[in-house]
Amino acid sequence: MRMEKDILEEIRQKKKEKNAVILAHYYVNDELQAIADYVGDSFYLAKAATGTKADVVVFCGVSFMGESVKLLNPEKTVLMPDAAADCPMAHMAEIERIKAYREQYDDLAVVCYINSTAELKSYSDVCVTSSNAVKIVKALPNRNIFFIPDGNLGGYVAGQVPEKNVILNDGYCPVHKAMTAEFIQETKKRHPGALVLAHPECEKDVLVFADAVGSTADLIRYAKESDGTEFIICTEEGVSFRLREDNPEKRFYFPDGCACCRDMKRNTLEKLLHVLTTGENAVELDEELCRRAVRPLERMLELAK
Ligand code: 13P
Ligand code: SF4
Repeated sequence: MRMEKDILEEIRQKKKEKNAVILAHYYVNDELQAIADYVGDSFYLAKAATGTKADVVVFCGVSFMGESVKLLNPEKTVLMPDAAADCPMAHMAEIERIKAYREQYDDLAVVCYINSTAELKSYSDVCVTSSNAVKIVKALPNRNIFFIPDGNLGGYVAGQVPEKNVILNDGYCPVHKAMTAEFIQETKKRHPGALVLAHPECEKDVLVFADAVGSTADLIRYAKESDGTEFIICTEEGVSFRLREDNPEKRFYFPDGCACCRDMKRNTLEKLLHVLTTGENAVELDEELCRRAVRPLERMLELAK
């Protein structure tokens, strides 16, 4: 078995050889976050690859993230350490339903969370991430919004933008859906001063307890800037790497057992080295699909400025 430090050295060498950069989401394993050139939330990572001169982007995340980078940078090679790392929520919307609402409402905007397949994006008007969804929905001229695929993020946005008619879809993230209000209440009994930080993919009855709601990057920033010393974290446990690095003196409590995204955890150092060496698992998208699916992403980047 190769030692971790040998693998790290080989990854660094291959990266130079291939003019590659490594992107990693906050939910992947610590050692991948540690070696990545860019670590962040979905919005930051969607933009990060565009600013680099790299020929190859290795994305430690799930397939919709690699697809978004490919859509925005078709000339770059985008490699996924594990081709099977997929977000179940990315598939949870129906094209037929989109078409039916378009028939029903003249001014409908289909707002598509970036956690979605390229095909769903291709039927949408604008993409959003958890860090800019409220801002973008507010900025749209349309009153009627069909928000896909996440019903929880859609519900959160609807609460923040009451002037719009936000039609909700029934997709969900299984990781965030498993987080409960009981966990927060129990943890609060033991740590009454703890602040609650929650991702908007959580259910409404969890969000009502939150002192802050936001993307992974928003929650990490909040914890760093806060005077609080204890936090109950309602998002995937991978964020603990950054939280611990930034705040060694603060305490963080995660729900037992349910805070782990198995798809994000499919990424490993060995698989990262393998794709860098072989070029396997390159993201390939049909040209016509790319042409249609990139538009809502570009509109997001424009409106988020
Ligand atoms: P953000 O990092 O953009 O908050 O996204 C969370 C998520 O579920 C990614 O899969
Ligand atoms: Fe998908 Fe949830 Fe995993 Fe994010 S945490 S990739 S939304 S299943």
